Amino acid sequence: MVTLSSIRALLFEISLNGPRILWRTVNDFSLWRIIEYPWVTRHLNAKPGDIIVDIGSGTSTYPHMLTKTGLDVIIIELDADRVRWQAQKRRETAQPGDGRLIPIVADATKMPFRDGTIHRISAVSSLEHIPDDHAVGREIARVLSDDGIAVMTLPYTSTERTSFMKGIRNFAQVAKNTFDQVGKSGSFFRFYTDQDLKEVYFDPADAIVTARSAFGRSILNGRYHETPMTKYWRTLVIKDILLAWIIHPLEEMFDSTDPMYVMLAYKKGKSGHQE
Ligand SMILES: C[S@@+](CC[C@H](N)C(=O)[O-])C[C@H]1O[C@@H](n2cnc3c(N)ncnc32)[C@H](O)[C@@H]1O
Repeated sequence: MVTLSSIRALLFEISLNGPRILWRTVNDFSLWRIIEYPWVTRHLNAKPGDIIVDIGSGTSTYPHMLTKTGLDVIIIELDADRVRWQAQKRRETAQPGDGRLIPIVADATKMPFRDGTIHRISAVSSLEHIPDDHAVGREIARVLSDDGIAVMTLPYTSTERTSFMKGIRNFAQVAKNTFDQVGKSGSFFRFYTDQDLKEVYFDPADAIVTARSAFGRSILNGRYHETPMTKYWRTLVIKDILLAWIIHPLEEMFDSTDPMYVMLAYKKGKSGHQE
């Protein structure tokens, strides 16, 4: 089974984007991703040669990291410039023995795959930015094979969020648990309750949730990310490795406040299967 430790992810990130990322990340490779990439990779439960469809890759190097572990990756990304960036990054960094990387400009609400043909889907902090998430949930259920696994990370709330990044960034509430950054296009951001997760993602697949975890509670989110401290978000990646190693497990053990994000792996249940 392919795994990706946080240190290996960091080393990949340095080799893909240069040692300058230790001082300042050039994409979002910092605390959240250092927690997400190892968890998502482990729960994909994939072996070299398997194909992963990564939804909403942006300019993340995660798909490249996966190819360097021998996986083949298809990127589904709506923004053509980001797909070009991914193709260029691939040309610059590919090495013999890597899995294949196929970046496609496509919409996660209408994926260019036949029913039941995709065995592994990842979506790291991307689905919360897609307004028609019900369509994405149905598409994942449609394209996932009977033995397929979808792994995703999503913002979470157990009750209701009435603000996001209050006093730090200007996010306006546009619907229940949904925010948009004023003056910045494409910054749509939605928090999911358990009922939302069920309705949007689990019900269309009649899903069996095989793993669930969380991150970003009262310290990592409440005292760090969603505070003025967030200005340090992009600097000194090594501090984020330490936070991910030390504070994150402690929070998950002893802190029962709402996490900022949940991480989920699911497969299709009986009635979600293709006839
Ligand atoms: C926050 S970024 C993703 C971060 C990335 N997965 C990572 O690991 O750092 C969200 C991405 O989703 C993409 N996106 C938004 N709507 C989409 C859609 N309908 N289909 C595919 N991608 C979409 C955006 O263009 C953006 O690049």
